[in-house]
Amino acid sequence: MHSIPASFSDRDQATSIFPQQNGLASRRILVTGGAGFLGSAVVRQLCNAGATVTVLDNFSSGRREYLQNGKATDGPKVVVGDICDPEAVEKSLVDVELVIHLAALPFVPDSYFHPKDFFRTNVDGTINMLLTTSKSKSVERFVYISSSEVYGSANRDRMDETHPTLPHSSYAASKLAADRVTFTMSKEIGLPAVIVRPFNCYGPNITQPYIVPEIIAQAGNGNTEVSLGNTDACRDLTYVDDTARGIIVSAVSPRAIGEVINLGSGSAISVRELALRIASLMGKRIEIKIDPSRLRPYDVEKLICDNSKAMRILGWKPLVALNEGLQLTINWVKNNAVHFQSPFSNWYRENKITPLLHANSGKN
Ligand SMILES: NC(=O)c1ccc[n+]([C@@H]2O[C@H](COP(=O)([O-])OP(=O)(O)OC[C@H]3O[C@@H](n4cnc5c(N)ncnc54)[C@H](O)[C@@H]3O)[C@@H](O)[C@H]2O)c1
Repeated sequence: MHSIPASFSDRDQATSIFPQQNGLASRRILVTGGAGFLGSAVVRQLCNAGATVTVLDNFSSGRREYLQNGKATDGPKVVVGDICDPEAVEKSLVDVELVIHLAALPFVPDSYFHPKDFFRTNVDGTINMLLTTSKSKSVERFVYISSSEVYGSANRDRMDETHPTLPHSSYAASKLAADRVTFTMSKEIGLPAVIVRPFNCYGPNITQPYIVPEIIAQAGNGNTEVSLGNTDACRDLTYVDDTARGIIVSAVSPRAIGEVINLGSGSAISVRELALRIASLMGKRIEIKIDPSRLRPYDVEKLICDNSKAMRILGWKPLVALNEGLQLTINWVKNNAVHFQSPFSNWYRENKITPLLHANSGKN
């Protein structure tokens, strides 16, 4: 593991270097959802490696400023549009060789309220991406970013790619549908594809009230009490730059074509332990309170990744230890204003979820 860097950009440098033989400098790459949390890490690393990057994003949760940070010499070209719109996709595909498809509605609790929107964006949007890409003469590979949520809860020590799939939310069902449709359609249309299943990521460029930012926000708000849902749930957490690097290698490695590949750290932590760990890194003493309104109706109890296939096929392994990554995330929250944008009208989250406001020294 690396020692803790002084800043996000130092870390960025440390984890963004790709071997020359990957030839990224000459590649023309489309990243859908590139303004989002995970997408912006992918875009930054690609730009830093000299790739010519186009981002297709409707900015429903992604942010323009997330495309500007890092040390990219040339930023990405941005096409503002919807992945369900064939014209927008066609426009973004001009001259592109590789497609990395991340755009999606990603926040599980939203999907309880808006399952149709999730299927429209995550499934219909992916079908539209595949169909429009199939007409392109230049695209060589399509990388679909699936999710560990497709598996449901772990029924063995570690979840490899053969673990049964039992989605526990409409979000997970939509990701599994798009994962399988990518697998099948890529064969029907003769488009080489890779399916990547990341486990939970955390880090800077926050867009959604995922568990790590939620705990940081509550602890940072001067509360001694942190309200959580299922504190026994265990998650495999990977620093976002590590996941982004795995995604990029999967887009260029010849051995990845046709494969389904997990990206995760290989160890899990309970939500309770995670909250105590974060509080300790923030120098806070907290009490954990169970808030029944935060309990998920059909929660995934445990996600833990078997990453041996990623190690074997991509030569990938996570580089950032949990405490290092959490500290980088805490530092980022202290220095950045975060607003969660509503992708829906009458968004329930505005009242229910702690905004990351007060941790930001009054910037909001
Ligand atoms: N964050 C994680 O822990 C995690 C884990 C596994 C898989 N994933 C997957 O990674 C991808 C990115 O997730 P994220 O956490 O970065 O979420 P995010 O909300 O930050 O990113 C989603 C991006 O897609 C864009 N988008 C949404 N709908 C769109 C549409 N119809 N057309 C064009 N752009 C659209 C958003 O504006 C945003 O920039 C998703 O596919 C998600 O399922 C994320």
